[in-house]
Amino acid sequence: MTTDRTYCGTPRAGDAGRPATAFGWVDRRRDHGGLIFIDLRDHTGILQVVIDPNDAPEAHGAAREARLEWVLRFEGEIRLRSPENVNPKRETGEIELRVRACSVLAVARTPPFPVNEDTEVDEQLRLRHRYLDLRRVHLQRNLRTRAKFCTELRTAMAEIGFLEIETPMMIRATPEGARDYLVPSRLFPGSFYALPQSPQLYKQLSMVAGFDRYFQLARCMRDEDLRADRQPEFTQLDIEMSFVDEDDIFAALEHAIPSAWEACDFRGGHLTVPFPRMTWREAVDSYGVDKPDTRFELLLRDLTGIVGTSGFRVFADAVAAGGIVKGICVKGGDDLSRSDIEGPLTEVARGARARGLAYLWKRAEGWQGGIAKFFSADELDAIGAATGADTGDCVLMVADRPSVVNGALGAVRNHLGRVRRLYDDARIDMLWITEFPMFERSDETGEISAAHHPFTMIHADDLDLLESDPLAVRSRAYDLVVNGREIGSGSIRITDRAIQQRVLAALGIDAEEAQRKFGFLLEAFEYGVPPHGGWAGGIDRMVMEGLGTDNIRDVIAYPKNQQAQEPMTDAPAPVDPGQLRDLGIAILPNTRMP
Ligand code: AMO
Repeated sequence: MTTDRTYCGTPRAGDAGRPATAFGWVDRRRDHGGLIFIDLRDHTGILQVVIDPNDAPEAHGAAREARLEWVLRFEGEIRLRSPENVNPKRETGEIELRVRACSVLAVARTPPFPVNEDTEVDEQLRLRHRYLDLRRVHLQRNLRTRAKFCTELRTAMAEIGFLEIETPMMIRATPEGARDYLVPSRLFPGSFYALPQSPQLYKQLSMVAGFDRYFQLARCMRDEDLRADRQPEFTQLDIEMSFVDEDDIFAALEHAIPSAWEACDFRGGHLTVPFPRMTWREAVDSYGVDKPDTRFELLLRDLTGIVGTSGFRVFADAVAAGGIVKGICVKGGDDLSRSDIEGPLTEVARGARARGLAYLWKRAEGWQGGIAKFFSADELDAIGAATGADTGDCVLMVADRPSVVNGALGAVRNHLGRVRRLYDDARIDMLWITEFPMFERSDETGEISAAHHPFTMIHADDLDLLESDPLAVRSRAYDLVVNGREIGSGSIRITDRAIQQRVLAALGIDAEEAQRKFGFLLEAFEYGVPPHGGWAGGIDRMVMEGLGTDNIRDVIAYPKNQQAQEPMTDAPAPVDPGQLRDLGIAILPNTRMP
């Protein structure tokens, strides 16, 4: 049926006189009494079709019935439009298809939202009819670009000797930190597979197997709270390499990511390599967060030494309790009113656990603001010098534990960057953050966990601290950050059994538990394990950044909604009692969703 098909968006003036057969959906239809005009749409664009009752009475009869989104086939000849009818906004605007024959291939119900316009539509309704949503120009473009990005990544990885290996979807749980999606086993009632949170252990085992350079566009499943850039199912560019250090891994990715990025012409296309590197310490000290947005300054400055013994009790008490004080200088911040600061800005700081946000303006008359009177002239001068404040600027300060101070000022900094438009939207800053801490302590439970995962190698200089001061231990983990968003993480792995045992001990995992959870990995390492390391990056997040959208669902064909449901097929859904019986599963009372 499709031999000699002419795609709707392709004919140009040079094709005038050629016969053409086009297939597509009715984007618009205008009935001028005599002539009928149909804009026929396929994924390449729109072709204007003209049906004249005198040339083609049968086709005219069929076209008269046609409505939006009907599927039609037209046969005819490409003709030039008369000059007054040329549409310069459309690529096919110089021509039209003069129709000889028309067939209706499918009729369509009135769509629940316009397919032919990029209007705002309730997302739940869009997801319920995702096939119509995807038919719209915007999502067609996103999904096609995503496919191109993935194809280019595959090509670029293969170019530098990486082999794509598929790893299983039904596995034993891997310790990535989120909750697992479980698959019950029928043959072993009461036992479960887990869907992979990532292929982490299999890719490491592939290094033991001698594959040397592995990659995969891997589907990962995590049962975690959803956010604008998080889905329960997502895709990683996952890699692992043997006999390497950080430089080799960075170089491989600095080849693959820019190749694919440029092929998709994401945001001007060009990425400068090598990507800059910054240690975690530097990022947190200066930007307050471990995923710094380096497109603008507004850096955090330490004021502890200046205001820690000042007459301002809030600062002095915080420092006496072992805390710190830091500030940021908002250039031209004289225009921030008291209510701007005490309202939205303080809310942002509080949202990041600070108790408040202190502020001073530097004006021609001197330092102003409710707390200025608590500081000596020398202290005010020193605050000005440390933050780089000039007349017309505003200094915002937080005092608390270091993690709260950094987190809160980092959040205020990002907020100000956005609302004061401190960066160029077209700019892309990709950078490596290195030397992450090996462990982190939960504020709620006080428990220590691996900041990346327990197979991450310790920084050589910090091995001695593993038992005495684990929270000070740096790891060989690294993240790739784009414009303030984490898009990937990785590490050099532990291949030394003694170090692995010490790390597991620091995590409170004894030999028996280690054996039970990942004994297979530890055993494999006894059969000749090459030193290795790897990385995984979110494809969805990279495409989001490339296309400049903040909603991860805009780059996934069939995403879940914020409640992890798929409204089109209505998953998750109860299953037949018989299926549960086969699996030896009974549902506890009162555990079903209302
Ligand atoms: P990590 O858990 O940091 O590392 O994940 C790597 C990257 O995957 C993306 N990502 C997500 N994207 C969308 N929705 C989610 N729910 C989601 N969770 C993670 C992010 C993140 O940076 N196995 C290790 C990597 C390694 O050590 O090699 C891992 O998975 O972009």
